[in-house]
Amino acid sequence: MFRTFVMAAAIITLPVLSPSVLLGQQAPPSTQGQHRTLPRPTNLQVLPKDISTEDLLKVMHGFTQQLGVRCTFCHAEDATTHHPDFASDAKPQKNSARIMMRMTHEINTKYLAQIQDPDAMPEMKTVSCGTCHRGHSMPEIFTPPEQHEAPAKS
Ligand code: HEC
Ligand code: HEC
Repeated sequence: MFRTFVMAAAIITLPVLSPSVLLGQQAPPSTQGQHRTLPRPTNLQVLPKDISTEDLLKVMHGFTQQLGVRCTFCHAEDATTHHPDFASDAKPQKNSARIMMRMTHEINTKYLAQIQDPDAMPEMKTVSCGTCHRGHSMPEIFTPPEQHEAPAKS
């Protein structure tokens, strides 16, 4: 799975594992100094196992921003230390996020890649978590405006 992930990233000539394939737009500036001391990940199932700490944290910070949540929305806390146990899969939201990562990747590489629209800016041609979530952990229900209102400009 992550072979195709990395390949897809290479095809659109972004840096390796390009968090932008997942997240769209520019990845947020990341990595506070203390994060660099994180242990090597032991439980990656979707992201490349050799991902750098910096790129991993870009992806993770992107999740928090695009869903409007903290790390512990997906990551369980250790009962005694109360620090996040990032490798743990105890919270169902973490596994939902894995499914979402695969889904987002597939939408971009399998479907959106078929749309030929040379005028669209690169960041318009992909969906990210934020395309649907827009800063909420659950996407909001879209209610179309009343008919008499001016239609939204496309
Ligand atoms: C929307 C859910 C979500 C949020 C929010 C989130 N993460 Fe994650 N995180 C994941 C998922 C899913 C994985 C596993 C990815 C995989 O299987 O390839 C992961 C994996 C990790 C890992 C690797 C753990 C290991 O040993 O395998 C670290 C470290 C991590 N996240 C840190 C963070 C930090 C720091 C934050 C907050 C800035 C954060 N995460 C926010 C979903 C999330
Ligand atoms: C195509 C639209 C779409 C995209 C793109 C998308 N999501 Fe979602 N996401 C949803 C919908 C809809 C739900 C609600 C599913 C349900 O409750 O059955 C959801 C639910 C979730 C949940 C569970 C929330 C909860 O309260 O338990 C998580 C976590 C999540 N998404 C993370 C992500 C992440 C991370 C990404 C980007 C990698 C992403 N989503 C991309 C539509 C999307």
